[in-house]
Amino acid sequence: MGRDHCGIPPPARAAVARESTGPSFLVNATHILLCASLPVSHRKCPARGNTEQLARQAAQGIPDQMDTTWLRLRDYPLQPFEDWRHTTGVYPQPEGHARTLLDATMAASDIVFVAPVYWYSVPTDLKRYLDEWSAWLRVPDLGFRQGMHSKRFWTIATSAGTPEQARPMLESIRLCVSYFGAPFMGELLGNGSKPGDSLNDPVVRDAAQRFFHQ
Ligand SMILES: Cc1cc2nc3c(=O)[nH]c(=O)nc-3n(C[C@H](O)[C@H](O)[C@H](O)COP(=O)(O)O)c2cc1C
Repeated sequence: MGRDHCGIPPPARAAVARESTGPSFLVNATHILLCASLPVSHRKCPARGNTEQLARQAAQGIPDQMDTTWLRLRDYPLQPFEDWRHTTGVYPQPEGHARTLLDATMAASDIVFVAPVYWYSVPTDLKRYLDEWSAWLRVPDLGFRQGMHSKRFWTIATSAGTPEQARPMLESIRLCVSYFGAPFMGELLGNGSKPGDSLNDPVVRDAAQRFFHQ
C-alpha cells in the first residue's frame, strides 16, 4: 500500500473470500447493476486494473439473456453531500447524475459493488454514492427504502494487503446493505497491486469464474 500501483512488485500472497446465502445465486436476478468505483487508467498504465479484471471475469458467469449494466461512478460525479435531515427533512427528486444513479439503482434486482480497497475503506466515489442513499431515503414518494429492501447485493474487491486488512471495507458494505434488511449474496476478494496480479492467482481466477453460479 502507499506506492504507485503501476510499478510495484507482485503481491506476497493472494486472497479470496467467498460467502453466499444459497446455491442458485442468480436465480431471482432480473437486472444486474455492476456499480464500479474504479480509477481512471493512467497513460503510463493503461491496462485495466485488478478490480475491473476480476469483475469482468466474474461477469462472464452471468447468463447472456440477463440484463447487465456497468455503471462507472466516475462518469457520474455528484455534488458534495448536504445533510438536510434536520432542516427541510426532505430532498427533491434528484436531477442530473444523481437521477441517473438513482434510476440505475432502482431498476436493478442485484447490485454488485466493484471497488478496490482504499485506505481500509471504499474509494471516494463509492462512498459519495452511498451518502446519496441518505438523500434518496428522504425523497417523498420514492419508496427507496422499500426498493432497496428487495434487492440483492454483492461485492467484488481487490486489495494489496491481507484479507484481514480488507475486512473493514467489506464489512462496511455489508453493514450498509443490512441497514435495508436486504440480502447480501457474497463477496469476491482478489489480491494484487499492478494490473494482472489478481487474476494471476488460479484460486482467485477460479473463484471469479464461480462467483455468480456454482
Ligand atoms: C489510494 C490507495 C489506497 C490504498 N489503500 C489500500 C489499503 O488500505 N489496503 C490494501 O490492502 N490495499 C490498498 N491499496 C492497494 C489497492 O487496493 C490494490 O492495489 C488494488 O488491487 C488496486 O485495484 P486496481 O488495480 O483495480 O486499481 C490502495 C491503493 C491506493 C491507490
